[in-house]
Amino acid sequence: MYILGIETSCDETAASVIQTHEKTGRIKVLSNIISSQINIHKKYGGVVPEVAAREHVLNILPVIEEALTVANIKPRQLQAIGITRGPGLITSLITGVETARTLAYVWQKPIIEVNHIEGHIYANFIDAAQSIKFPAIILTVSGGHTTLVKMEKPGQIKIIGETRDDAAGEAYDKAAKMLGLGYPGGPIIAQKASQYQPDKHRNKFAPLNFPRPMFNSANFDFSFSGLKTSLLYQLQSDHHWKQRVPEYCHEYQSAIIDILIHKTIKSAKKFKAKTIMLSGGVSANQELRQRLAKNIEKDCPNTDFRVPKLEYTTDNAAMIAAAAFFMFRQGKIYDFKHIKTDPGLQLR
Ligand code: KG4
Ligand code: ZN
Repeated sequence: MYILGIETSCDETAASVIQTHEKTGRIKVLSNIISSQINIHKKYGGVVPEVAAREHVLNILPVIEEALTVANIKPRQLQAIGITRGPGLITSLITGVETARTLAYVWQKPIIEVNHIEGHIYANFIDAAQSIKFPAIILTVSGGHTTLVKMEKPGQIKIIGETRDDAAGEAYDKAAKMLGLGYPGGPIIAQKASQYQPDKHRNKFAPLNFPRPMFNSANFDFSFSGLKTSLLYQLQSDHHWKQRVPEYCHEYQSAIIDILIHKTIKSAKKFKAKTIMLSGGVSANQELRQRLAKNIEKDCPNTDFRVPKLEYTTDNAAMIAAAAFFMFRQGKIYDFKHIKTDPGLQLR
């Protein structure tokens, strides 16, 4: 079957057509079109909701049209439309949801509503659904979320940990802003961090010291806002900080990654996970991928490790269509009249 996915929860207008095999669960992406607004929001240092909303309105139809053209699929060949219903910016979500509703009405197709985080999670199932072993632990790290879930089987998800304040991606973005590095912060901090050469820099300045909040807490929750405050105080008391930006980025990133890895491995051991998966924009981070892979090999040698292809880590609609496919298999299908945006949608 063919599914059209649509995603407009933040600052990317995205549409994708996937081809799925109902019995085997195989998912093949036929098109994955993303119109990013990063260059527009860059000058403000973050996403401006009103600007994002206006851009979505301009982009949504051309993006959907391109997704169908690249996939070489006519609307009548689609079985369903998958749409991100939340969580996200209400003004952004509404464009996607209203467009999906209108197309579903005109084309007479059912709608499948998708939780954005679930979309990130199912990015791991693209091209690989048949070989994933359960139970699985999935860490979703993005600009808006840090969520650890246990999956017993596709469609059956339980949250086991969440951030209590900032998301991991937000921690990157805010640090980049403080260091004057621009937006989005994740890729820039990662790049600067990779330039840090400890042998060259050690002993030149007083060592940096970032906390690992909630590292030893008895649960699987996260907290990142203290890390950001710690960065602010260290910058304020360091007259030489501009000479050691790579070191700041390296140490700050290490703190984030230490926490993410520790909680993920701990939960995988507790729930006897057969697979660990990463997802979300921060899962594009090579340091996180490599260090987590090494730790799994050492601490859970019998557990598989999966990460989505880079194009499916940050916001895209192929992951929304993939999640929609699993909802479809569970019979979670609606008609256009019953779909509403929900900016605070919870994962269940
Ligand atoms: O999943 P996503 O595109 O949007 C949300 O759902 O929030 O994630 C965007 C986040 C941003 O915070 C960005 O800084 C972060 O992902 N990010 C990264 C990297 N690439 C994107 N963080 C760390 N390292 C990266 N390479
Ligand atoms: Zn996202």
